Amino acid sequence: NDGSSLQSLQIVASSELNDPLLTFGSAVEVTGILKKSPSQKQPVELEADQIHVVGECNPLDFPFKIKERHGLEYIRQFPHLRCRTNAFSSLLRIRSEATTAIHSYFKENDFVQIHTPVITSNDCEGAGELFQIEPSKSENEEDENFFSVPAFLTVSGQLHLEVMSGAFSRVYTFGPTFRAENSQSRRHLAEFYMVEAEVSFTQSLEDLTKVMEDMFRSATEHVLAYCAEDVDLFHKHVTPGHKVSPEGHLFNFGTYPGSLFLITYSEAIDILNRSSEKFDFSTHWGCDLQTEHEKYLVKHCGNIPVFVTDYPYDLKPFYARDNEDHPQHTAAAVDLLVPGVGELCGGSLREERLDLLRARLEEVGLEDTYSWYLDLRRFGSVPHGGFGLGFERYLQCILGVDNIKDVIPFPRFSHSCLL
Ligand code: 4AD
Repeated sequence: NDGSSLQSLQIVASSELNDPLLTFGSAVEVTGILKKSPSQKQPVELEADQIHVVGECNPLDFPFKIKERHGLEYIRQFPHLRCRTNAFSSLLRIRSEATTAIHSYFKENDFVQIHTPVITSNDCEGAGELFQIEPSKSENEEDENFFSVPAFLTVSGQLHLEVMSGAFSRVYTFGPTFRAENSQSRRHLAEFYMVEAEVSFTQSLEDLTKVMEDMFRSATEHVLAYCAEDVDLFHKHVTPGHKVSPEGHLFNFGTYPGSLFLITYSEAIDILNRSSEKFDFSTHWGCDLQTEHEKYLVKHCGNIPVFVTDYPYDLKPFYARDNEDHPQHTAAAVDLLVPGVGELCGGSLREERLDLLRARLEEVGLEDTYSWYLDLRRFGSVPHGGFGLGFERYLQCILGVDNIKDVIPFPRFSHSCLL
């Protein structure tokens, strides 16, 4: 097997070529003649002239055994070797193809890709989950306070995309994002990949939900088409409980033409309050939705992705657009919740009105820090909005993978930074 697909090439060799070092896991170079295979199992096989064991592998020490199906949790213990298992190599091919699919979607829809910085001086989300960066200890005093201001690993490229949305009508970024969340949950990492888009001249949240839905649909269809065999391995053997509709689609998009389910936060709270389900966290208008609530809402809506819109104003960061409603004060924010995972995307219309934005920044004492952000509203401000999609959560959702650590090559989370 060379990692190009799940299929391995059958090699037929005479017994003289047998080598005791030729064991499961060893690295080999083989030359021979490719022939039509007499067996139905594969179209071709290689009749070997030469087999050279390039790198031997002691089968007793090697953690994976021939013809054994190892679970994701078991292989996770070997982050340096798990890419050699069928399940993880399938995952990595799917991850690679899904990346291509997302870039293709944006290209086909006239988005300009922006490389937003990994090092930044802003805390976009204001949640204080920042990794601060400093040079390692040096003899040279000059190196201390390298940037002259506190600098962090980015939690989101949104504010940099907003800068660009003043010059381009559609922009996106897709890169690593960092959160110092002290969480051991199955859907949080300290380093994850986020797809973020920003759209100018928005009229309403629907301009965003449309992009979110289209991107989700287009990427999923692409992955199902280009990685059918790898996806099949997951659905049949790795995550066998995962539902696939009879048409072979993960979600029966055809049943809901035009749009996925959309409910407001207030409706969501009503649904949760009326439910007979026992939740660990009780619900009331104004509370943050927990994973258990999100998963229930998805189930309630028929186990398909569902948008929840118009969250309480006070729950959202300073940039979210004020709906100016009473008595339940909300922001034009939207989350996309998906089966198995809960929140997959978070987005909002941005507050483009200078006076309202300035008042909010003053309220939270950030008007000086964000004077450049206010400039964006001073000079040719346009209504705009955007969203971020957690790429690992997307893979969890389409493959039915329970733990986020199993969909990223090298997971980083609190108390763990292996390799
Ligand atoms: O909802 P979040 O925090 O939104 C933002 O950061 C916005 N500034 C994005 C934007 O509008 N441009 O994060 C977006 C998504 C979440 O819905 C979730 O899928 C994922 O990023 N996410 C995580 N994924 C893995 N591990 C974590 N610790 C994550 N935190 C957020």
